[in-house]
Amino acid sequence: MTNTVITQPFLGFGLGLRTQHFEHVLTQQPEVDWFEVISENFMVGGGKPRYYLEAIGERYPLVMHGVSLSIGSTDPLDMDYLKALKQLANQVQPRWISDHICWTSIHGINSHDLLPLPYTEETVRHVAARVRQVQDFLGRRILLENVSSYLSYKDSSMDEWQFLNAVAEEADCLILFDVNNIYVSARNHGFEPLDYIRQMDPRRVQQIHLAGHSDYGDYVIDTHDSPICDPVWDLYSAALTHLGPVSSMIERDANIPEFSVLEQELAMARTLALQTLPQLAADHGKHHSAGLPGQDAKRMGSL
Ligand SMILES: [Fe+2]
Repeated sequence: MTNTVITQPFLGFGLGLRTQHFEHVLTQQPEVDWFEVISENFMVGGGKPRYYLEAIGERYPLVMHGVSLSIGSTDPLDMDYLKALKQLANQVQPRWISDHICWTSIHGINSHDLLPLPYTEETVRHVAARVRQVQDFLGRRILLENVSSYLSYKDSSMDEWQFLNAVAEEADCLILFDVNNIYVSARNHGFEPLDYIRQMDPRRVQQIHLAGHSDYGDYVIDTHDSPICDPVWDLYSAALTHLGPVSSMIERDANIPEFSVLEQELAMARTLALQTLPQLAADHGKHHSAGLPGQDAKRMGSL
């Protein structure tokens, strides 16, 4: 086992790029370090989305986030989807590509849900073999994100964090760590979220997601339609304490507010990160002076 796996630099604090904000981002060039785009939204060539993607990509670092890989399914990998993903990546030149550690389809039928897997050694081997196939095809490591869940399997023989670490190690892939998903699953299943966070392998967590959810008391749904709540901010601080600096971003997928509202949440993430990791300002400054490609002084100075 090597001591270091991640080779990408810390990108700072980003946002999910949403259609409602295309024009604002392009014309106002807000102080956001990077943007995450949903891969599937740009797989059709041409048109306005691709125009904005290209123009915004010239000004900001981008990462690609997918929802259709279905890495845990027993269906064969969808090579048409992977070819489209690779073609898009060739054009976008993202810093990295991510999807979810879940299954979405079976027998060719897409559930349009990110469904959890049974956490067993057999599933680790199954998923890891498929991740290796994907990585060989794309010619790069991918990131897999922990999903929020509302059910569990009697057959599971390990905790979710053990499963996630085991897949990452066996597949030699990276992890997109969604702190809100951990909070949601912890509430729904009754586990201690700090146990999860403190067990994650810091060598493999390359990105963090932060988001809001809907709290129904007895259960919590991962809706991405509201501000991040205080317990999730607390978990974010705990995650940074354990992991060190990790490129972090805010996901809002519904009830999309004015851009300035998301900027305020992003400022909160920066503030918390600086409080948790005081050395971050100096380190971030070093990246800036080294001139990370694609990032200008204005945005990198946004700490
Ligand atoms: Fe997420």
